[in-house]
Formats: sequence, structure tokens, C-alpha cells
Amino acid sequence: MTKAGVIPIYRARIAAGEIEYDPAQAAAAERLQDLWAKLRGYNPLPSRPANGWVGRLLHRKQVDELEDHPNGLYLVGEVGRGKSMLMDLFFEAADVPRKRRIHFHEFMQEAHRRFHQIKRDNPGISDPIPPLADMIASEAALLCFDEFQVHDIVDAMILGRLFEALFARLVVVVATSNTTPNDLYKGKPGRDAFLPFISLLKKHLDVLVLEAARDYRRERMQGLKAWYVPANRQADEELDHVFNRLTADATVHSSSLDIAGRKLIVPLTANGCARFDFSALCGVPLGPGDYLALATHYPIILIDGIPRLSPDNFDEARRFVTLIDALYEHRVKLYATAAALPDDLYRSGEGAKIFERTASRLEEMQSEEYLALRHLT
Ligand SMILES: Nc1ncnc2c1ncn2[C@@H]1O[C@H](COP(=O)(O)OP(=O)(O)OP(=O)(O)O)[C@@H](O)[C@H]1O
Ligand SMILES: [Mg+2]
Repeated sequence: MTKAGVIPIYRARIAAGEIEYDPAQAAAAERLQDLWAKLRGYNPLPSRPANGWVGRLLHRKQVDELEDHPNGLYLVGEVGRGKSMLMDLFFEAADVPRKRRIHFHEFMQEAHRRFHQIKRDNPGISDPIPPLADMIASEAALLCFDEFQVHDIVDAMILGRLFEALFARLVVVVATSNTTPNDLYKGKPGRDAFLPFISLLKKHLDVLVLEAARDYRRERMQGLKAWYVPANRQADEELDHVFNRLTADATVHSSSLDIAGRKLIVPLTANGCARFDFSALCGVPLGPGDYLALATHYPIILIDGIPRLSPDNFDEARRFVTLIDALYEHRVKLYATAAALPDDLYRSGEGAKIFERTASRLEEMQSEEYLALRHLT
């Protein structure tokens, strides 16, 4: 946390050569700086009205005092424009004691899980939303959502009431998205019932279109080879170089994905890149749900040490096939060190036929055309 705000960090990164100056990003950074200033020390009591008239009165007073609590910000734009980079910078700088940054999809999964938990723990409860909102608001007065989007009718159904309750608890929301609020959940069943949520979102979040000139992610990937063979020390170093280049301006950290209440550890991540050892991905009993979560979450995945596969390590090979299907279907960009080129990865025998498709996908995933495709979340 810093007392100085967004702009000094943004400028320092430019000065250090970590990022290039971009006028649209600079304008967005100014907007984030304004919000940063308004939110200094922001720490509303998250409670809903206490029982009794004194409690209600006190709460009303507090809400009134905070009536002008600032709108959040909805950063929307094409891929690779720096939305997540700017939001992360803002989050890091935010001088807010209770703050949380989370991928929106994970937030919703957690919300559904808690919703059902509250129902289980309180049989007969008529509405789990208020206690759920209390829980979320007590953890964070500032919520930063990466990749805000709504595909799922189950999400669409709870979002309106949940966010209304969160805003009533003075939670401020900052989000990044590829979709403008007006286009959220467009053309999906039950859209009409979803429209009030869009109005609510626009009431509490200012929409800022980030029209940065370039797809910086794509640029960073330019000229990087995808497949390093054989997986020797030199290949390791080359993959290190790829990872460093893609994450140069960020702090690499470990993270975890929440998959149906389980945690999948992501040992190294930054800037939407995640790096794994082959054995951590395919040598342990992970399944399609885990690979799907990875594929939707990370636009770029690096894998160290893909070995030759054969009927002798069939489980690993099978998982690898499932993993590559998920990555391919979601247009994830893959960088790897491997014992052999895709066509030679699988030694003949049972399963070789299935592996042909994987090899062909791996080949395609190295092509310029594939690398230019948009990540599907
Ligand atoms: N001005 C810049 N100069 C250099 N690199 C940049 C700049 N802006 C962003 N980047 C880098 O480009 C990559 C993509 O940025 P970021 O992840 O923030 O894009 P995004 O808008 O969130 O994309 P998406 O919509 O796919 O989530 C990151 O590695 C980021 O650090
Ligand atoms: Mg992003």
C-alpha cells in the first residue's frame, strides 16, 4: 500500500521502462487516481441496520454521511489493452483497509457456495441474500473484479439482488471487462429480468472505455517461440525468458483457483500468465473441471518439462489430452519445454490415435493465426 496513489506508480513503471506511455491508459490512470483519493481510508461499517429504532437511526445517519460515497469504475475495452494491469495497480495502491481483488467468475462461484451454505445452516431462512451480502461486505469495502461477465443464468438470477445489497452496504466496485454493461448477458434467456441489474451497475459504477492503441499482450508475445525442445537446461532458460518477458512489469506470485470448493494451486502467476511443471498438471489426479478452470482463467499458460508419453504413463497422457483440449478450445496460448516435438511426443501403442488430435492441436497452437485469436473465457 502506498500513500501516494496510482499516478506515481504508473509513472514509475514508465520511467523504469516496464511499460510504455499510452495516452488512453494515462487518462484511465487519472480516473483511478481520483477514485484512489476519494477512497483514502475508506472504511464504512458494513452492518445492516441494527434491530430497534436506535440502531436504525444510527445506521441511517451513517449511510447519510456516506451518501456521497464514490461510484466505482467499470473499465471496458478490447483484449490486452491494460485493463487488468491498471486495476491491479489501483488495487495495490488503494489505501482501503478492507479490500479484495478477485476474478469475477470465482467470486460468483464462491457466492453460490456460500448462498447454499447459509441455506443449509439456517433451515427455513426466507432469504439468504442479506446475510451473504453482510459476509462479503464485512470482508471488503472495495471489491475489484477482473473479467466481469455473465454467461450463466444462475449468476444472472442472483446478481441483481446481491449487488443491490452490496451497494446498500456501501461496497465500492471496480471491474475490468471486455463487455460494456449494456451488452452483458445479451441474447441469453431471461435477459429482460437481467436489465435492472445493468441499470444498477451503471448507477454505481462509472463506465470507462479504455481505447489503448495496441494489444500489448500480443506485442509481448511477438517473436517468442512456443515450444522448446528438448527440455534441457537451455530450454529451461528460454522458457524463463518467455515468462520474464510476459510478466516483466508485474509481481510474480502464487495463487490458487477455487474449483467447487477445492483449491488448485497455481505456483507462479502474473499478468494472466500461469506457469506449471508438467507433473503438477498431469501427474496428479486433476480432471476436465480443473483444466477448464485453468483455461478460462489464464490467457497464457507455460508448462515446464512435458515428457514423452506412452502406454506406460497412460494416466498422464490421458490428462494431457484433456488439458490440451481445454486450452485449445479456449484459445489459451501455450509455451512449453518438451522432450519432443508434438508429433513425436506420444510413442506408439494404445492411445496413439487419440493423441494424433492433440499433436495436431499443439502444432496449430504455435501458428500465428492461433496466437492472434482471442482468449475465450
Ligand atoms: N503500456 C503498456 N506497455 C507495455 N506493456 C503493457 C502496457 N499495458 C499493458 N501491458 C502488458 O500487456 C499485457 C496485457 O495487459 P492486461 O492484462 O492488463 O490487458 P487486459 O486489457 O486486461 O486484457 P484482457 O481483456 O485480455 O483481460 C500485460 O502483460 C501487461 O502488463
Ligand atoms: Mg484482463
